[in-house]
Amino acid sequence: MPVDVPWHGKTVHTGVYKQTVAGPRLVRRLNIDGDGQGDLSGHGGEQRAVLAYQLDSYRFWANELGRNDLAPGQFGENFTVDGLPDDEVCIGDRYRVGGALFEVTQPRVTCYRVGLRMGEPRMAALLVAHHRPGFYLRVIEEGEVEAGEEIIKVSTGPEAMTVEEIDRVLYLPGHTRDQVERALRIPALSPGWQGSMKALLDQPDGEGGGSSGSAGLNTAATAPPPGWPGFRPLTVTRVQQESRSVFSLSLAAADGSALPDALPGQFLTVKVQPEGDVPPLIRSYSLSGEPGTGTYRISVKVEPHGAASNELHAHIRVGDRLEAAAPRGTFCLADGDNPVVLMSVGVGVTPVLAMLHTLARHHSNRQVRWLHGARDGTEHPFAQECRDLIDALPNAQSTVYYSRPTDADRLGVDYTEAGRLSSEPVRRLGLPTDADAYLCGPAAFMDSLTATLVECGLDASRVHTEAFGAGAAITPGIKSTTTTAAPHQPAGPPGTGPEISFARSGLNVPWNDDAQDSLLELAEACDVPVQWSCRTGVCHTCELALISGSVDYSPDPVEPPADGNILICCSKPAGDVVLDL
Ligand SMILES: Cc1cc2nc3c(=O)[nH]c(=O)nc-3n(C[C@H](O)[C@H](O)[C@H](O)COP(=O)(O)OP(=O)(O)OC[C@H]3O[C@@H](n4cnc5c(N)ncnc54)[C@H](O)[C@@H]3O)c2cc1C
Ligand code: FES
Repeated sequence: MPVDVPWHGKTVHTGVYKQTVAGPRLVRRLNIDGDGQGDLSGHGGEQRAVLAYQLDSYRFWANELGRNDLAPGQFGENFTVDGLPDDEVCIGDRYRVGGALFEVTQPRVTCYRVGLRMGEPRMAALLVAHHRPGFYLRVIEEGEVEAGEEIIKVSTGPEAMTVEEIDRVLYLPGHTRDQVERALRIPALSPGWQGSMKALLDQPDGEGGGSSGSAGLNTAATAPPPGWPGFRPLTVTRVQQESRSVFSLSLAAADGSALPDALPGQFLTVKVQPEGDVPPLIRSYSLSGEPGTGTYRISVKVEPHGAASNELHAHIRVGDRLEAAAPRGTFCLADGDNPVVLMSVGVGVTPVLAMLHTLARHHSNRQVRWLHGARDGTEHPFAQECRDLIDALPNAQSTVYYSRPTDADRLGVDYTEAGRLSSEPVRRLGLPTDADAYLCGPAAFMDSLTATLVECGLDASRVHTEAFGAGAAITPGIKSTTTTAAPHQPAGPPGTGPEISFARSGLNVPWNDDAQDSLLELAEACDVPVQWSCRTGVCHTCELALISGSVDYSPDPVEPPADGNILICCSKPAGDVVLDL
């Protein structure tokens, strides 16, 4: 059963510590009686009811790692098996053991906890690199199983794709389209792995501007490589007030050439240099203009006390230069014929406005539902621009909510309904359930409206959100603490190394080689929200955009991230870096 173990100053709740048991045990749909998983979303569920690992791999690791202390259960498995090697067992194979019938669903999911149990942090990567992951079983017929019983193969899975082969397809470079298509023809393959295989199949070709890296491991790899490395100066060609608090900057290449195309929904990261001898402020702004014009437009809300937004508003003028990194981001309008719901509040309108421009430019026949919430007419940027775009589309409908309309605001002209854009009015709209929805606004708005859209029948995977700040953390197995500290300088003496800028958190920290082994460890020391799982370069959960600079890897990632991205769990800065974190 799961236990709490101390690790890196935190507490991990994990079921990786298994002990041998004597006598029969009842194997049920979700678990063996007396067994449990600490992290149900990572390692639990029907598809991962029983984990099997081979004695032959024990012998291999004893030799490879020089260990003589490996006891059954060491790899977190439920069944330590004699035979059944990963390069023979196929996804979909069925085996009878004692009174129960099993089906192979997927290889083991790599994560740091097996390394924690082994006292070998590289273990997750080693299991993949040496092609010895082990595999999960689904329970087809519940029954009793006892150590020593014979394992009888009942049938072979369709496509005869071994555990080792499919593990390689997902985690290592060099898979073929045929392999991915074969994997997708195996009904027994778990839905999670089916999703990864579909993402690999849909990934644009790496050549000719398509994406690199593995889309099967992280959506950060689905965008094309950035249009240029690091920062370059752009010229401000127009400054336009859009509402009481939002103004736009149009930007062009300093030499007048066309800027690389951005995808609708992507953002630009800029350096804002305040007066005096102080470091620049690094901030990101979604592109709000029509993509594909060779120029960019960003739109900035002047926040009360906001350092960069006030600096820009007060000082930037036509003809000024602004250092900008190439457009990034994966919150992008997906191709298709299905309906599109574009939903925003306040300045969250910017990325979805770029999507509306794209739909209008292509005279799209898609059904488009435009939903926007503003306080009143003075805080409603792009009102006329949006009306014109919606009028130009054959199947678009707009609903605008003013939370506090003034006497000057005309119901039915400037806005559709008084009140907030919130769950209750959205439920009444009868939005198409086969739509892709794109949401941008405050975190609470996106959380509640995402839940509402899913309640209304939209597929959760088709509800996309863009946060104008740090993203949600993924820290599997870590027991949550009640207080979430705002990002801060790390404890201890400041480092003397390169400067690490966490762009979304607005934090610049000097690197300290004595204190941290990876950029991930530095982010954790600063309470910058991070996402990770294996912590050793396999799973790509920690993949993110490197806005500028370069890194060194140790260990090298099993498969490299997409161009312009890095894996922070196994990298250190090779100079100053700006991270989209
Ligand atoms: C992917 C992405 C896209 C984005 N797109 C846009 C966009 O299109 N348009 C846009 O306007 N922004 C966008 N942002 C947000 C933008 O990057 C900045 O975070 C925002 O402009 C605020 O920066 P700032 O320097 O003005 O405020 P900061 O100085 O960073 O302050 C942050 C917040 O703290 C508050 N604050 C600061 N000091 C005080 C104080 N003393 N007392 C009380 N409160 C205080 C400010 O009001 C502000 O709300 C985006 C962010 C991301 C990550
Ligand atoms: S956490 Fe798995 S690759 Fe970084």
